[in-house]
Amino acid sequence: MTDPAVAHGFTSVDTQPRPGDWVQVLDRVGAEPFYAAYKQRLEELLRPVEGARLLEVGAGTGDAALALRSRWRAEVVAVDSSLTMIEQARARGLAHAVVADGHQLPFRTDYFDGVWADRVLQHVADPDRVLDELLRVLRPGGRIALADPDYDTQVLDIDDQDLARRVLRFRADVLLRNGTLAHHHAGLLAARGLDDITVEARTLIVRDPSAVDNVMGLRTWAHTAATHDHLTPEEANRFVSRFDEAVGAGRFTYAVTFFLTAGTKSSARRTGTTRVPMVSNPA
Ligand SMILES: C[S@@+](CC[C@H](N)C(=O)[O-])C[C@H]1O[C@@H](n2cnc3c(N)ncnc32)[C@H](O)[C@@H]1O
Repeated sequence: MTDPAVAHGFTSVDTQPRPGDWVQVLDRVGAEPFYAAYKQRLEELLRPVEGARLLEVGAGTGDAALALRSRWRAEVVAVDSSLTMIEQARARGLAHAVVADGHQLPFRTDYFDGVWADRVLQHVADPDRVLDELLRVLRPGGRIALADPDYDTQVLDIDDQDLARRVLRFRADVLLRNGTLAHHHAGLLAARGLDDITVEARTLIVRDPSAVDNVMGLRTWAHTAATHDHLTPEEANRFVSRFDEAVGAGRFTYAVTFFLTAGTKSSARRTGTTRVPMVSNPA
């Protein structure tokens, strides 16, 4: 179970000590070729057409929404629960940027031609409800596209695999609310009667932790785990030593797989919302 005391910053950006730091996190991640490439693919999976009416939930700084708007001359609305993020999105030129919670979207039913959420379901309190809301505001025949890493897929080559696994499990099960949900996205769409469901995987491989890891903070996860009594301080120190040795020896490898899941809302879909349980024990 997720420990609320360890809540990830993206669950509540505005209450973090320095909310602006999370804007920088998104900018640094966005500059990584891996992220740019999968985001491009996610956009394709949405199958935008010129002039389409599209919604991004958990849009962050709005960069993806802006790119999509200019490429497709689409009407793109961005929603985020963080005012800090929405102010950034507006400052970057996204006029239709709204502070709202994905659990309760302030839009008409069947309004959008396409909806997407990129690295958002992993952070929300009730992903079933957010998914129901995304599908409610999507018109029959419209497209939904979801992306998230699934931390059940992590591997890390350091010299103590038991310790590595414990730290990675902490990341998967405690540090994120829904860190292992992404491989269930297709099932969640199928249970809601969507058509044409596809799943694609993209694996992030980190060989130089000074690059992406400055953003992910992988080296710090063990000490975070120790702070919350999931490891002893000695184990956390050992993890950092093994981590640094692996980097020094040129053997360091970390990988995690992202799932890109898309589907089409059936034109013959039942009206009303069907609550479908997520998974019995996501942790
Ligand atoms: C990891 S960031 C991803 C941002 C953006 N989608 C991207 O790819 O750069 C997650 C975003 O989801 C937002 N978020 C978290 N919970 C939310 C919720 N319940 N409703 C709307 N947005 C939420 C956060 O404020 C944050 O901006």
